Amino acid sequence: MIMRTYIKDLSAHVGQEITVSVWVDVRRDQGKMVFLDLRDVTGKAQAVVLPNHTEALEVAQKLRPEWVVEVRGLVNKRPEKNIKEGVLNGDIELEVLSIVVLNEAETPAFDISTDGREIGEEVRLEKKYLDLRRARMQRNISMRHKVIKHVRAYLDGQSFLEIETPLLTNPTPEGSRSYLVPSRVHPGNFYALPQSPQQYKQLLMSAGFERYFQIAKCMRDEDTRGDRQPEFTQMDLEMSFVTREDVMKLNEGLLIDLVTKLFPEKKIQTVPFPVLTYAEAMEKYGTDKPDIRTDKEDQNLLAFCWVIDFPAFEKTTEDTVDGNGDWTFTHNPFTGVKDEFINDLMEKKNIGNIISTQYDIAMNGYEIGGGGIRLHKPEALRKVFEIMGYSDERIETNFGHMLAALASGTPPHGGIAWGLDRLLMVLLNEPNIREVMAFPKTGEGKDILMQAPSPAPEKTLKELGISVQKK
Ligand code: AMO
Repeated sequence: MIMRTYIKDLSAHVGQEITVSVWVDVRRDQGKMVFLDLRDVTGKAQAVVLPNHTEALEVAQKLRPEWVVEVRGLVNKRPEKNIKEGVLNGDIELEVLSIVVLNEAETPAFDISTDGREIGEEVRLEKKYLDLRRARMQRNISMRHKVIKHVRAYLDGQSFLEIETPLLTNPTPEGSRSYLVPSRVHPGNFYALPQSPQQYKQLLMSAGFERYFQIAKCMRDEDTRGDRQPEFTQMDLEMSFVTREDVMKLNEGLLIDLVTKLFPEKKIQTVPFPVLTYAEAMEKYGTDKPDIRTDKEDQNLLAFCWVIDFPAFEKTTEDTVDGNGDWTFTHNPFTGVKDEFINDLMEKKNIGNIISTQYDIAMNGYEIGGGGIRLHKPEALRKVFEIMGYSDERIETNFGHMLAALASGTPPHGGIAWGLDRLLMVLLNEPNIREVMAFPKTGEGKDILMQAPSPAPEKTLKELGISVQKK
């Protein structure tokens, strides 16, 4: 492989002959000569094919936008009057000596030189590989990489280990439905895709790792919205021997560091982040993810706030997991209760008044994360399931492993998960999380590009022992 010369580095090569591997962004044919805007992952540069380079000119006249070419040329300084200040390569121009066409391209289905907001989303999603070429998408995906890299480095520096947890597992209740995956080897049996790594990360605390994190894929079979996808990414972490305040402080430090270093144009409204109780948030703002910005027009203002002291249980008419009680957990069953309510939990009384150790973090009106200190005593976790009306048998079948782990010397522990896509959406001033994901699904949960979901072939269904009822 040749050492690539990238577009962003061209000005370091003034007076030299170089070769770039690029896409044709724009071609302007002036008959006697052709101007080309050339593009690679690092940016754009203007090139000119002069009449005296007859072979190159002949090729240039055939070129179309999005063709892939290798261009040999001489990097020239632009005459003073043609210099474009503040533009990448505004001071240079590539004089083309020869062009090799590496691949042709059909006329793009839509304009990729704009920010794309004027184009129907289904069209963009169908040809996402093209849509991702636009500058806005390149920036979003590259900032996503930088944010993840920053989080990894920061947490590594705080002695966290990144540990992968399984995708083929059993349901972890987070209040929505799980996707099921049939097992061929065990016909009639199903794995569930995780709604979050919740149980595994707690088991890792039982296992003595003390500080875990993961950039984790989560799957939830729920209705899609602007800030919700069936498949999304969490920055998930868990810590042993911590209080609620410890976890909040660590996350606040990470968020501030991230914003200051990667988004210097942003201003955080209040540091330390304000802390509201659930009751205060509901009374003052009518929501548990308040938008406390003082200026909602200011795109660069970030207003974080913590919300704490949620009720642990709420009345339900629906069987949220598979209980049959009229109470259900508000966040997940593993969340702890504040010390002063532990007796009520153990005696299963004043259930509606029990306050949990849950904390959520909101930013500009979005819930970007949530977590809690967990129940680390098996008898306490058992009470939660009893309050929800689970039979002893069901508790054993569904959560016996968690109770056994808690009974084996599990330290007090707690953690949090950020909705990474939501955080990025706000940081990148995007209206929905699809714009910060490389391959998002539509509002109906479809992947139009891959045409998923789709019917399975008869043969596959037979192997799995599945028969599909036609509606
Ligand atoms: P929770 O269910 O609150 O907590 O999820 C944590 C964060 O993940 C984001 N989120 C989503 N983002 C995009 N699409 C979705 N469908 C979606 N659902 C949730 C939100 C939310 O705040 N295991 C616990 C965390 C813990 O207790 O440590 C959990 O998953 O930003």
